Amino acid sequence: HPTMPATQTTIHIINGPNLDQLGSREPSIYGNTTLADIETLCQAEAKRLGMRLAFMQSNAEADIIAALHTASNTAQAVIINAAGYSHTSVAIADAVRMLSIPVIEVHLSNTQAREDFRHHSHIAPVATGIIAGFGAESYRLALLAAQTILLASATEK
Ligand code: DQA
Repeated sequence: HPTMPATQTTIHIINGPNLDQLGSREPSIYGNTTLADIETLCQAEAKRLGMRLAFMQSNAEADIIAALHTASNTAQAVIINAAGYSHTSVAIADAVRMLSIPVIEVHLSNTQAREDFRHHSHIAPVATGIIAGFGAESYRLALLAAQTILLASATEK
């Protein structure tokens, strides 16, 4: 394609604990969409935007930290739903803090409208921005946000 950039932008989407259970997990809060559905939606949106996408999920904090370390060398932006770890993990927040690329925090639910313990995120102060409350669409919006940020920083140069 003639308008395609020489090197394709790569986005990493990192998903934390219990998100592998989407579809059957508290559907009144998280809906019926599975994580596989979300990945399909994200791959389609990334393709439309001309971006490459790596999508992962882990229930283990160490794996999420390792994925953030990897992203620093291979991605131009990160989208992270650290799930419950958003509210507890200083270590994941520290790994985000080390990144010099944009990091977008996403949540399916509007965490500010839920229990008090979900109102604080360790990641939020070190993230570029947050998208929450739009269900699976939060991820699509995060991809659009990543593209917008990267285009803006490219035209600044
Ligand atoms: C979540 C919100 C968190 O509070 C919760 O622990 C999750 C999912 C969301 O996407 O809405 O596991 O990150």
